[in-house]
Amino acid sequence: MAKLFTPGPVMVPRGVLTSSSDQVVSHRGPEFRGLLEHLTRGLARIFDTDGDVYVLSGSGTTAVDAMAWSLVRPGEKVLVPVYGEFCRRLADTLARRGAKVTRLDTMPGEAPEPDVILGELETSGYDALALVHNETSTGLAYRWIRELARRASQMGVKVLVDTVSGLGGEEFSIRWGIWAAASCSHKALAAPPGASFVALGREAVEDLEKRGTPNLTPPILDLSRYRVFLKNRGETPFTPPITVLYALRQAVDRVLKIGVEASVKAHASRASTLYRKLPRLGLKPLVRESGLRSNTVAAFKTGRLKASKIKELLEDRGFIIATGMGELRDSVVRIGVMGDLTVEDVEGLIAAMEEVLDQLSS
Ligand SMILES: Cc1ncc(COP(=O)(O)O)c(C=O)c1O
Repeated sequence: MAKLFTPGPVMVPRGVLTSSSDQVVSHRGPEFRGLLEHLTRGLARIFDTDGDVYVLSGSGTTAVDAMAWSLVRPGEKVLVPVYGEFCRRLADTLARRGAKVTRLDTMPGEAPEPDVILGELETSGYDALALVHNETSTGLAYRWIRELARRASQMGVKVLVDTVSGLGGEEFSIRWGIWAAASCSHKALAAPPGASFVALGREAVEDLEKRGTPNLTPPILDLSRYRVFLKNRGETPFTPPITVLYALRQAVDRVLKIGVEASVKAHASRASTLYRKLPRLGLKPLVRESGLRSNTVAAFKTGRLKASKIKELLEDRGFIIATGMGELRDSVVRIGVMGDLTVEDVEGLIAAMEEVLDQLSS
């Protein structure tokens, strides 16, 4: 079977996969309540929050949209630094929600420095700052988030984070001053797709309790409903993807057993092998600033070679990677190193890449 080196979904460890074949239980019964309690506790440790974690049915976008539609009110001013496709989507969902969105755009592979963002927050007075932790479209990990969130939160700005492809693969903590963060099952946690979640800090939970979710939020994205159901009944308001949650429970336990820090290191080690070896074959990392190169998705410029051709020839050799997105579609390859991959798999991909590049260059 071909190995997935995609930016998600990712290869799921066998034990995690098989756990999803257990029989379905009622989501209004004690077994499910036990499962949800176990899951939310485990996820809270990974997000490092003493607030709540709400589990939703759906992909990463569901969690990002729920965060945007539940925690931002129409008319609120939101700053969104845009350093890739998922930043653009975050800005778009906030604009649809009725927020007054200001974008700070950069070139692909770059991101604005914290001082630029803080300067804008200071001069124009914002209610919220929305950031992508790990920009999957360019392989950029916005590691300045820690310092930035601390300072922005001290200014009374709510910091909302999409950590869809960061959680479990990049260092992260809600306690850095983050109001809320969204992620999902099928990236660095290495579970099958189908579940996503929003983690809130204590202050955000209290605010949700006090103010509820703004009107007109579609019920499925309304986090105050998830809060009430979790608090009063230990359940989700709507039917959850029960068998995916069995797998997610195993995946979360696995990450906690290895340790979140060790999980981050394992991703960093696989990615750094690529950053070290692929430039020798002529592929340059898209992100120039080495301290911002992602642990979970490594992106390389393909020069005069077509990314789609490289992808196709690697596929013939049993390795599935991704090309760039949007304007980078045929000039960038993206290699995900999340999921059930070994050091040997990474070495195998590099050897196959060498063959493919030789073939295309000759
Ligand atoms: C950073 C980021 N945000 C949001 C999404 C959307 O997630 P999904 O495709 O699971 O809806 C992705 C998907 O790759 C992502 O990488």
